[in-house]
Amino acid sequence: MANMLEIEGLSVGYARKGLALENVSLRVPAGSIVALLGANGAGKTTLIRSVTGLLDLHHGHVGTGSIRFGGEPILGRPSHKLVRQGMGQVPEGRLVFKQLSVEDNLLVGAAILPRARVREGLDAVYALFPRLLERRQSAAGWLSGGEQQMLALGRALIGRPRLLLVDELSLGLAPLIVKEIYKQLQVVGQTLGTSMLVVEQNARLALEFAAHAYVLNGGRIVLSGTAQEVAASDAMKESYLGASRRHAPEATP
Ligand SMILES: Nc1ncnc2c1ncn2[C@@H]1O[C@H](COP(=O)(O)OP(=O)(O)OP(=O)(O)O)[C@@H](O)[C@H]1O
Ligand SMILES: [Mg+2]
Repeated sequence: MANMLEIEGLSVGYARKGLALENVSLRVPAGSIVALLGANGAGKTTLIRSVTGLLDLHHGHVGTGSIRFGGEPILGRPSHKLVRQGMGQVPEGRLVFKQLSVEDNLLVGAAILPRARVREGLDAVYALFPRLLERRQSAAGWLSGGEQQMLALGRALIGRPRLLLVDELSLGLAPLIVKEIYKQLQVVGQTLGTSMLVVEQNARLALEFAAHAYVLNGGRIVLSGTAQEVAASDAMKESYLGASRRHAPEATP
């Protein structure tokens, strides 16, 4: 199977609002990291909700289109079933259980594992993010933003998903910690073959770590290709990568 996730002609609306996604098609090839970029309100979270079975919860509805996960059509399938079928989800805002300890948060994610494999799952997450091991007894609410993101990722990864979806990986985090997280996600991709769709505000970082990228604008895909192609496109440079050009030294006449 070439694509772990395949979205075809997807249109989604919310009650009392026009379309939030219009005729969106997107693919996550098996084993690769794909970045989903776009400004605030572009429809990134709506796309993630559509894939993860959480659209109903937010009073959204699919107009047209199809979504296939591992080759199977999944529109209308509830979130908890998708998780059991190997879809790891890190929602917008991370949503760790702040009162629970780090380890208990991970155990929530491990609920889909056979009991005999829970210990091994915890060890694998702690090997990936050693800071979580140091803080395993702390309440999750006491962790830094970066550590909470590691925890949210660990909770999603502990079940060994085939596909991981992350909304807003880097929001509010220092670039250094985001890089550390991406490096570990690359390790997961390389060792376990996990496919990933990552919503990212920081286009520059995303294009450094992802193989492919899609740019949403006003609910439509306006640009897509390999990370290199997207990074090199003029539209991309204008709208997202412009900041560093402003800081670039003036060309000498
Ligand atoms: N539950 C909802 N009810 C009605 N409209 C919604 C709902 N959620 C999102 N929208 C609207 O749908 C559009 C797409 O929003 P969405 O949250 O998908 O964008 P986004 O790209 O994730 O933005 P951000 O970067 O701010 O997270 C926006 O116009 C938003 O106002
Ligand atoms: Mg969003």
